[in-house]
Parts: sequence; C-alpha cells; structure tokens
Amino acid sequence: MEKNTFYVTTPIYYPSGKFHLGTAYTTVLADTIKKYKKQRGYDARMLTGLDEHGQKVEQVAIKRGMTPQEHVDDMANQAKELWKKLDIEYDDFIRTTEERHTKIVEKIFNKFMEQGDIYKGEYEGWYCMPCETYFTETQLVDGKCPDCGREVKRMKEEAYFFNMKKYQKRLEDFYAKNPDFILPEYRKNELFSNFIEPGIEDLCITRTTFDWGVKVPKDPKHVIYVWLDALTNYITALGYMSDDDTLFKKYWPADLQIVGKDIIRFHGIYWPIFLMALDLPLPKRIYSHGFLMMKDGKMSKSKGNVVYPEMLIDRYGVDATRYYLLRTFPYGQDCIFTPEDFVNRYNFDLCNDLGNLLNRTIGMVNKYFEGIVPDYKGLVNDVDRDLQDTIVTKIKEYENNMENLHFATAIEEIWAIIARANKYVDETAPWTLAKNGDTEKLEAVMANLVETLRIIAILINPVMSQTAEKIFNQLGIDKEEYKQYDTINKFGKVTKGIKVIEKGEPLFLRLDSAEEIEYIKNHMK
Ligand code: ME8
Ligand code: MG
Repeated sequence: MEKNTFYVTTPIYYPSGKFHLGTAYTTVLADTIKKYKKQRGYDARMLTGLDEHGQKVEQVAIKRGMTPQEHVDDMANQAKELWKKLDIEYDDFIRTTEERHTKIVEKIFNKFMEQGDIYKGEYEGWYCMPCETYFTETQLVDGKCPDCGREVKRMKEEAYFFNMKKYQKRLEDFYAKNPDFILPEYRKNELFSNFIEPGIEDLCITRTTFDWGVKVPKDPKHVIYVWLDALTNYITALGYMSDDDTLFKKYWPADLQIVGKDIIRFHGIYWPIFLMALDLPLPKRIYSHGFLMMKDGKMSKSKGNVVYPEMLIDRYGVDATRYYLLRTFPYGQDCIFTPEDFVNRYNFDLCNDLGNLLNRTIGMVNKYFEGIVPDYKGLVNDVDRDLQDTIVTKIKEYENNMENLHFATAIEEIWAIIARANKYVDETAPWTLAKNGDTEKLEAVMANLVETLRIIAILINPVMSQTAEKIFNQLGIDKEEYKQYDTINKFGKVTKGIKVIEKGEPLFLRLDSAEEIEYIKNHMK
C-alpha cells in the first residue's frame, strides 16, 4: 500500500552570519514533526536550505574578502554541519544559487510576464538595506524599519512589479474558506488588519541596485529580488517545471510550512498569491513560531548575548539542547532563554525524572531477577490499572498536541507518564515486596516499569533520538519491532524474555547549577 505523504519545510536561511540558537529552532521543529510523522507511518519529507542571493549576502562576502559564491559555499557547509550536529534528518537541502532553482525562477518570471501579472514601473520608497525591503511612509515605525528597527533610506528605481491587487479578492475568499491556514490565529488577524484590509500593495520584485541574483531574462540589468526567488524554493526543490517533476507530483501541496513570525507576511500573502498565479494548490498549513529572546531583548552580537547551539551541544549534548527548545517555547509565542532555565530543565526533567526512572528500574531488575525482565502478567498490583490508564490517556493527549503543533504541551504529556511511573515505584515499594517474598507482585512491577520505559523511549524519539536509543539499549531491546510506534498500545505484549544491561550509564549526569549557569553566561557571544 502507498503511504500517505507529509511534506514539511523550513524557511531557507540567509547566509549572512553564524546561525544562532533562535534560528536553529525553526529547523528543530520541522525535524521533530517530520520524525513524528515518519513514526506514524507517513512517507515524510523535510526540506531546508539557504537563501543565497541579494545585496546583504553580497555585502557580507565583500567584508569577508570572498566572492559571493565562495562565501555562500562556505555557509552552506556550515549549515550542513550544524544540522548534522543537531541531529536534523532533512531530505533535501536547496540552495537558491543552484541551477535547478535559478532556471525555474526564470521560467516562473516569464510565465508571470506572459500572463500579465508582472509590469514595469518605477519604485520609490523607504528602503531597509539589511531587510532588503521597501516600506511606505505609514509602515515605518518612528521613521525606522518596522521589521528590524534600523535606519531606512529614500530610494527610487525602475523596477518590475507583481500585480498583487488583482488577487486580493481571491486571497480573501481563500482565507474565508480556510480559516486555519495560518496558525496561531492571531498572526492571521495581524496580517488582515495590517496588510490585507488596507488593500494589498503590488510587490516590487526586481532591483537594479545590486548584481548578485537571478537576472530578469531579456532585461538583465534587473535582478529578481529575494522574495520571488526565495519563496519558490519550496517547489523548485521538488522539480516543479523541470524535466522530472515526480517529487512535485508526489509531495505538493506541502502539509506544513514552518516560519518565524517575522516572515509571516511573505508566507501569508505573497506566497499564496504566487501559487494562485501558477494555478497550483496552496500549502495546507503555515505555522508561525515566535522568537527566542534574551532577558535584555533580542540576541545581538553588540550586546554579547548570542547563544550558539554548538556551545550547548558540546557541553550538554544534542538531546538536551533540542529538549530545551521544544519544551520551553510556548505555542506561537516568544521564549526567553535563561541559563538558569536551561540548567534546571537538564537537572530536573532529564537527570531526575527520566534518568532516575531508568536507573532505578535497571538496578531493580538486576537485583531481583538477575537482569531478566519477568513476563507481563496483566493487572496484579492495586495501582497497575491506574498506571496503564494514565499511559493510554497521556498518549492520546500527546498525539493531539503533536498534530496541533503544541510541542511543549506534547512533551509535558510524556513527562506526566514519567512522573506517574516514578510514583508507581514509591507506591508499590518493590523493596518491601522483595523482602516479603511477594514474587508475583514484584514481577508485575518490573514488567510494568520496563514496558513503561519502552513506551517513553518511543515517544521521545522525535525529540531526542539518541536518548531513546540509549534507553532501548539499556533495557536490552534490540529488535526493531519493539521500537515501533504502533506497539505502544499493546501494553506488555512485546518485552518477553529481554535482558537488561548489567550496569547502565546515567543518561544525564547531574550538573552543578551555579557552575553551569556561569559557564553558559561566559560563553555567550
Ligand atoms: O528570513 N528566534 O532568513 P533568516 C526564533 N531568508 N527564530 C528566529 C530568530 C529568533 N531569535 N531569528 C530568526 C529569512 N529566526 C529568509 C526566509 S523563506 C522563503 C526565506 C528565524 O536567516 C526566522 O523567523 O533571516 C526564519 O524563520 C529563520 O530563522 C531564518 O531567518
Ligand atoms: Mg531574518
């Protein structure tokens, strides 16, 4: 049987500097949902990449004493290294300088030209160089760029425009029929009150002020400006309009496009309109997440408060870093990073709750049964039913939250299972059962704990695959079938005859809080 497909994308990053922890968040999200969907039996595909053209990139290259191409090649390697380090399982990495992309961008431009969607005019406005965006007088905030707060310059140039106005009605109709297209809803409401209700402006899609980009076919002094070039990556990567569009036919429309809140305007207005002009189906959902902030506001090099993922990964591991991001970011909202939070999550959630549950379980199975996990016997102890009911309920809630992209809450559901299991140990008091020779009850407790941990490992897998593998390994679970998601509802049926490890390494070593908080503070840049 053909599997259902699931196509998830991240924004393609500007190669303008080292990627910090906030930017990494988008990609960790996409990777987690992709792995979850894969577990659930989907043919899941994830795209990420780089947005390599434009003035800003050209300027950074000059500063580094490199050609733009040398610079972006280097940045592409850096990005791929970082994604590897962050355990990101992407299926394709698109770079907008690749021919498979630039050729199609030209084709798309020509098609829009022929259809009369594009016209030549003159553009005048307030231009923000770092954002490569023109703004109207009214869009400025205190005379500065509304997106980044920096100085803007009055500029004028001959340019090509995309006739967005023509699609205003169609876009409004689309939103009326698809009210959940953008999540969370308040981001959509912002788009409507700021841009759609006042009337969508035509979009200037070329520049003559720089050279580093796809040239307008037949009018090469114009360079196609980043957003038409950038947004189309989601379909050029699938081979749209190319000689082989198998992937496009298979995976488009995307099931989920993840973007930060700063670029929702481009994904909620221009992207749907470009797709309408191409007569293509729109993505099923766009999720806009918030920003990782510091106590003193945005991360910035000048403040010296930038956290790079490598620093955390090298010291605390990739799983703790991913766990922190996914567990701490509230749905759709900004998240404030503090070293205290990071260290507390590590010590309490990972080391105490999860680590200890595994440790004491392994210890007891060794002590009481020489490492052989007793067979599951059904409900034996008074509290067995409650443990299993909790697991069943929490799994359902976990799934609902994952489907609705409430990642932090989804993880909380897993931790509710962990807490229940820790409490179960205290309630059943296996040491007393052992002392009293109550073997049947003791066997049941061990079987239940091992099974609960196996389920936990499956559930945390999309977030922390290395930790999941370590748990399987310590429990002595090596058969792939015991690691499959669809076995989590068959409580106790699959752990027959397994032997746990004799002495398990702690999953997470307890941190000295004060010391590590200092360490993180000292390693911000
Ligand atoms: O916007 N916290 O690229 P980009 C969370 N090339 N997310 C953050 C963040 C923070 N502090 N800072 C940035 C671009 N991001 C375009 C996209 S898509 C066709 C073109 C997010 O490198 C940001 O919201 O500036 C975006 O989703 C991603 O990092 C890349 O940003
Ligand atoms: Mg940006």
